[in-house]
Amino acid sequence: MKYCILMGSPRKNGNTSKLLKPFIEELKLYQVQYDLIWLYDKHIEPCIACRNCQKDWTIFGCRYSDDVQEIFDKIYDCDVIILATPIYSWYCTPPMKSLLDRFVYGMNKYYGDEKGPSLWSGKKLAIITTCGYKPEKGADLFEEGIKRYCKHSQLKYSGMLAERDFGYKSVFMDNEKDKHSRAFAQYLYSSSLL
Ligand SMILES: Cc1cc2nc3c(=O)[nH]c(=O)nc-3n(C[C@H](O)[C@H](O)[C@H](O)COP(=O)(O)O)c2cc1C
Repeated sequence: MKYCILMGSPRKNGNTSKLLKPFIEELKLYQVQYDLIWLYDKHIEPCIACRNCQKDWTIFGCRYSDDVQEIFDKIYDCDVIILATPIYSWYCTPPMKSLLDRFVYGMNKYYGDEKGPSLWSGKKLAIITTCGYKPEKGADLFEEGIKRYCKHSQLKYSGMLAERDFGYKSVFMDNEKDKHSRAFAQYLYSSSLL
C-alpha cells in the first residue's frame, strides 16, 4: 500500500502541516510507504486546455515540461492519494487547484475525439484540511467538489479530516486534533486492508 500526500499549504510549519504530522507518524507505525510532495516547492503550470494529453491514452502527455510529470508518476504508482490543504476562498490553494486541473485532463482521457480510459481508476483519495470557519461552513464546498471530481475520475472518495483554526493568536494544535489525525490514518489504513 503506497500513499502519495500532496501538501498544498504554503506554510511549512503552519496548521495543515501540524495536523499532518501525527497522521504521518501513524503511517510510519504501520510501515506504510509514502511520498510527501510540497506543492509550493514545485513548478506547476496551470492547464491551458490544449488537449495534447488526449492524443496518447497510455501516458500523461502534457506539453509542459514542469514538475507535474514527476508528480504524475508518483500518483500513478500509489494506491491512496491524500490532498492536504488549507482552505483558501472555500477551496484548496492555487498549486493544488492547478494540479487538479492538469490531472482531470491528463489522467482522464475523456476529452479527445473518442472517450478513453481513466488512468487512475480505483485509487483512493482522502482530504486533510484546516479552515478558519467551522468545517461544515469552511470545508464543505471543497469536499463536495472533490467528491464530484472523484466520481468523474473513477477514484474512490475515502473521507475528510477537517479541523478549525481559531486565528493567528490562538494555538492551533491540541490533543483532540492530534487524536483525530491519528484516528483518520488508522481508519484509512484499516479500510485499505479490506
Ligand atoms: C488567503 C486565505 C484565504 C482563506 N480562506 C478561507 C476560507 O474561505 N474559509 C475558511 O474557513 N478559512 C479560510 N482561510 C483560513 C485558513 O484556511 C486557515 O487559517 C488555515 O488553517 C491555514 O492553514 P495553514 O497554516 O496550513 O496555511 C483563509 C486563509 C487565507 C490566508
